[in-house]
Amino acid sequence: SWTPDSFVESTVAELKAKLGNDKVIMGLSGGVDSTVAAVLLHKAIGDRLHCIFVDNGLLRKNEFEDVLDSYKHMGLNIKGVNAKDLFYKELEGLTDPEKKRKAIGKVFIDVFDAESHKVEDAKWLGQGTIYPDVIESVSVKGPSATIKSHHNVGGLPDFMKLKVVEPLNTLFKDEVRRVGKSMGIDAKLLGRHPFPGPGLGIRILGDVTAEKVRILQEVDHIFIKGLRDKGLYDDVWQAGAMLLPVQSVGVMGDERTYESVVALRAVSSRDGMTADWVHLPYDFLAEVSNNIINQVKGVNRVVYDISSKPPATIEWE
Ligand code: XMP
Repeated sequence: SWTPDSFVESTVAELKAKLGNDKVIMGLSGGVDSTVAAVLLHKAIGDRLHCIFVDNGLLRKNEFEDVLDSYKHMGLNIKGVNAKDLFYKELEGLTDPEKKRKAIGKVFIDVFDAESHKVEDAKWLGQGTIYPDVIESVSVKGPSATIKSHHNVGGLPDFMKLKVVEPLNTLFKDEVRRVGKSMGIDAKLLGRHPFPGPGLGIRILGDVTAEKVRILQEVDHIFIKGLRDKGLYDDVWQAGAMLLPVQSVGVMGDERTYESVVALRAVSSRDGMTADWVHLPYDFLAEVSNNIINQVKGVNRVVYDISSKPPATIEWE
């Protein structure tokens, strides 16, 4: 019968046989799937697995440093690439959600392609594809998905012409977590909420600037830390904050303010296809709202999103 340990043992043996002395390159996102896939590959071929983690400037507060650190602790051969400015430049002035997604995807491909050329003789592209991704062949959005369109070779970036190795493509999400746990991956990492490839880029409605990213990172950090501190994080499938392209009037001391509105969203879901808003306790929402307005300059109003999917999506863009 299937156990995480037996899966690890047989998969590592298969990967060794399949990959021999070949090199594999892989883009990591900090997400559960790519991390577990990378650790499996690393068990099989050690430092012949070359991992790349791109800072697109749209990650959560401190996420790039934190995740890079945990990857290094796991012994992965990983290179962090700071490409923030390239992303901000490409996003400049863009307000249409699809154009923003495309811009983020394009820069990611460019950066990843350039990095992959620095690994000589790489033969394989590692991916964290899981079984639902395979059966759904639904157009998953974003960079990770763009990579998945490797089937139509020709006119593609060079790394896409590599052979693809996907050690998790028979597993469901809960099995991936169990495999990760059996290999000793940190529970905190395995329990992380899903986070979209385009990151805060699609949670800042309208055009994206470095300053807006900074504001939203602070807001998001207060919300997520609050969920963790109150033991609510694991009851929620996914949570985050949106920076709205709206200013509203407020009052601070004797002063009139005219500042940004943020929306908080927390949903329960099984697979992200449908979702319900979580009935977070009022006193928790009150505390988070106070903390955000008191601590984040530029924000004077907080609202809570009470829409389910469908008809609303989880992300606002
Ligand atoms: P929606 O907004 O479509 O989101 O209800 C469903 C789930 O997918 C995530 N999502 C993305 N993930 N790239 C990703 O890797 C994307 O472009 C993207 N857009 C949405 C979303 O966070 C939620 O978990």
